Amino acid sequence: MRAVPVRAVPVRAVPVRAVVWFVALLLVACGGATPASPTPPAPATFEADAAQIYARYCALCHGPDGEGYASDNATRLRGQGFLRTATDDFLALAIARGRSHTAMAGYLDQFGGPLDEAQIDQLVGFIRGWQEGPPIALDDAPVEGDPEAGSLVYGERCASCHGALAQGGESAMSLNRWTFLSQASDAFLRYAIVHGREGTPMPGFEGTLDAQQIDDVVAFLRRFETEPDVVPRHMAPPSIEAMTLIRSPDGEAPDFTLREERFVPAAQVRDAIAERRRLIVLDARPTSDWLIERIPGAVPVPYYDIAPIIARLPRDGTWIVAYCGCPHAASGQVIDALRAEGFERTAVIDEGVWHWIEQGYPTESGPVPPDPAAPN
Ligand code: HEC
Ligand code: HEC
Repeated sequence: MRAVPVRAVPVRAVPVRAVVWFVALLLVACGGATPASPTPPAPATFEADAAQIYARYCALCHGPDGEGYASDNATRLRGQGFLRTATDDFLALAIARGRSHTAMAGYLDQFGGPLDEAQIDQLVGFIRGWQEGPPIALDDAPVEGDPEAGSLVYGERCASCHGALAQGGESAMSLNRWTFLSQASDAFLRYAIVHGREGTPMPGFEGTLDAQQIDDVVAFLRRFETEPDVVPRHMAPPSIEAMTLIRSPDGEAPDFTLREERFVPAAQVRDAIAERRRLIVLDARPTSDWLIERIPGAVPVPYYDIAPIIARLPRDGTWIVAYCGCPHAASGQVIDALRAEGFERTAVIDEGVWHWIEQGYPTESGPVPPDPAAPN
């Protein structure tokens, strides 16, 4: 049983930067890093810049106009029920930290991502631009729910989309990450469950579940709210200039069998690495995710910054495979760019990186450029 005081939805009651600074302080506490000072954006270019940032970094999955589901479970950011109940802090933390182990990476430079605090502020303002009405006054009566009863309701009504442990499923986002639950008030959760999310598969449960059942489900979801699920670390994005690109340069070429002339099964790539075949592996996700966990020897080539690698890749028929978590959108963008440049022996790892990790295939992490000749 848990009653959480719910604050009214503020319009910038707390500046976005406060969250980001909180995160930065957390970093200082955990890693001893000094946060860089934010540079305020020039007002004249604010909107144009923000649109460009969105187009470059976000449209791939959330769609060019925030309509959602351009790939994976990327949500409908322009949904009114969402925008009119989510605070700026909610948006800023989602963008800065991401949702660990999903296609939503952390974009703040403090975590190895590509954006600084001012740019994340800009994105929050840009997304707010889709909001058509004032914030909805949420019913902040405390939730008095029974998580045991809620777990049964959840299993019957929610698990098929959100996953048995709210970890995210085939068709819907996760609901169990700290970066979500720490920002989603009980009233925010209750509103989403009662009204659903228009224009998405999320149904409204008003009339299907009674008020007590809804509070029970909220209490059940609260059980997942624990400490940050990834230890924050200050890491600079890696420089590919210093990295060795080819794994096992003296090895033979792998024998890949592609599906639809494009997708290589993860197991074939695992075998090729184990057999020390000559191969280049590219990680198409934001660099923050590359730092956390990656396929051994993978080179960071985030989907938003492909050009620098192209000049450095060998044009001698070495196989190049790319992967992401979404599971094809970012890696597909990288492979399309390479193919347009004439690289033919290229493929997307079919099942994506989460499958790779779930299968227990080898991974590595951290900022040190890997030595491709080293044993796994
Ligand atoms: C590679 C795909 C991908 C890209 C690129 C991406 N997102 Fe996401 N985003 C997702 C997914 C998937 C989720 C849901 C994650 C989950 O399961 O919790 C998400 C969740 C979010 C959420 C939380 C939504 C909610 O309802 O709780 C926000 C806000 C968000 N993204 C904003 C952005 C912004 C802004 C950018 C650009 C900087 C961006 N995303 C780039 C895939 C992506
Ligand atoms: C048919 C699939 C489906 C079912 C069933 C379903 N959901 Fe959802 N739910 C979704 C999708 C998809 C979204 C994301 C909508 C969007 O893009 O904004 C969502 C969003 C949400 C959100 C809002 C998250 C946010 O950040 O905006 C909450 C809370 C939620 N669901 C809780 C539940 C609960 C609790 C149940 C069961 C009572 C449930 N859902 C049942 C598909 C479903």
